[in-house]
Amino acid sequence: MRTIEWDDSDSSVKMIDQTLLPSELKIIKCKNIAELCEAIQNLRIRGAPALGVCGAFGVALSAQLSSASTVEGIIKDMKAAGDAIKKTRPTAINLAWGVDRVLEVAEDEGMDPRLIQNIALEVAKEIADEDVATNKKIGKNGAKLLRDGDVVLTHCNAGRLACADWGTALGVIRSAVADGKKITVVACETRPLNQGSRLTAWELHEDKIPVQVIPDSAAGFLMSEGVINKVIVGADRITQEFVYNKIGTYTHSVLAKEHNIPFYVAAPISTLDPESWEEHVQIERRSEDEIRYIGSNKDLNVPLGVPILNLAFDKTPMENVSAIITENGVFYPPILLDEIILG
Ligand code: MRU
Repeated sequence: MRTIEWDDSDSSVKMIDQTLLPSELKIIKCKNIAELCEAIQNLRIRGAPALGVCGAFGVALSAQLSSASTVEGIIKDMKAAGDAIKKTRPTAINLAWGVDRVLEVAEDEGMDPRLIQNIALEVAKEIADEDVATNKKIGKNGAKLLRDGDVVLTHCNAGRLACADWGTALGVIRSAVADGKKITVVACETRPLNQGSRLTAWELHEDKIPVQVIPDSAAGFLMSEGVINKVIVGADRITQEFVYNKIGTYTHSVLAKEHNIPFYVAAPISTLDPESWEEHVQIERRSEDEIRYIGSNKDLNVPLGVPILNLAFDKTPMENVSAIITENGVFYPPILLDEIILG
C-alpha cells in the first residue's frame, strides 16, 4: 500500500507506522483528529509531502465526523481540526498547505454539509494521487543528473515513506535505477531518530537498490576520500534564502561545497514558500528525551541534569545548493522561487 491512504471501509486514515520500522511493518488507522495529531507528533507519519497528504485527509476526516447540519457549522469544525493539525509540527510547509487546500475548496464549492463531506474527501484523495504523479516527474527530471556508477549520499528519509509513494530525493534515485543506471546510496543514519538507517535503508533494501548506512559524522571523511559523487536531499520548506531540512543537512552542504561535490535538493512546488523570510519560519524543537535516552531499553545516553538542544531541522543557504529538482524541471543558480513556480 501507499504510505498513507484513505480507508473507505471505515472512513479512517490508514498509514504505515514509521516508528516501528525496520523491525515491524504495521498499518495503523486514525479514526479521529486526536489520533491523527498524535501520529504526526510522534512521527508515525512524517516527511513533508506525506504530512501534506495527512493534513488533507485530516480535514476530510473532520468533515465526515462533523455532526453539524449547516454549512457554517461543518466549516467551523473543519477549521478547528485544521488548526489542531497545523499546530502539530511547524516546519514542513506542506502540512498547512494540505490542510488549507481542502478547506479552500470546501468553502468555495460546498453548498450543503453532505456536499462538503464529499468534496473534502475527493480533494484529499486528489492530493494523494497528485503527490505520486509529482514525485514521478521530480524523479524523471532529476535522474538526468545521475550517471551510471554514481555513489549518492542522502540524509534523513526523502523516499516513498516521506510521501504517498515514490519519494523525492529517493524518487530521483529510483528513476535513475529504472533508466538502467547502477546507483549506490550512502544513507546517513540521521540521529537522533534515525530516519536514514531505519527508513531509507529499509525502503531501498526492499527495492533492491544498493544502500550502505554510515554514521552522520562519517560523511566528510568519505567525501574527502572521493567516495561520494553527489548529494541529494529533500526539503521541508524552501524560502528564497534557505532550504529547511532535517538537522545535519547544512553540514553536508558545507562539506559538499568544500569537496566540489554537487548538492541537490529534490522537492515539489508545494514545499516552496516564496513569501516567508527567516524570521517567519519556526524550526521545530523536539523533546530532550529523544536524545537523553537510547535504545528500546531507554538506557541513559546523557546524564540527568545536563541540558539538551534537540532541533529537528536546520537551514542551508541557497548559495550551497547546486540545483533544485522539482516537477517543473531542474533549476540552477541563481535560483529564483518565482521562476520555479512559473516553470
Ligand atoms: O522529522 P521528519 O522525519 O519529518 O523530517 C523529514 C525530512 O527532513 C525530510 O528530508 C523532508 O521532509 C523531505 S521528505 C520528501
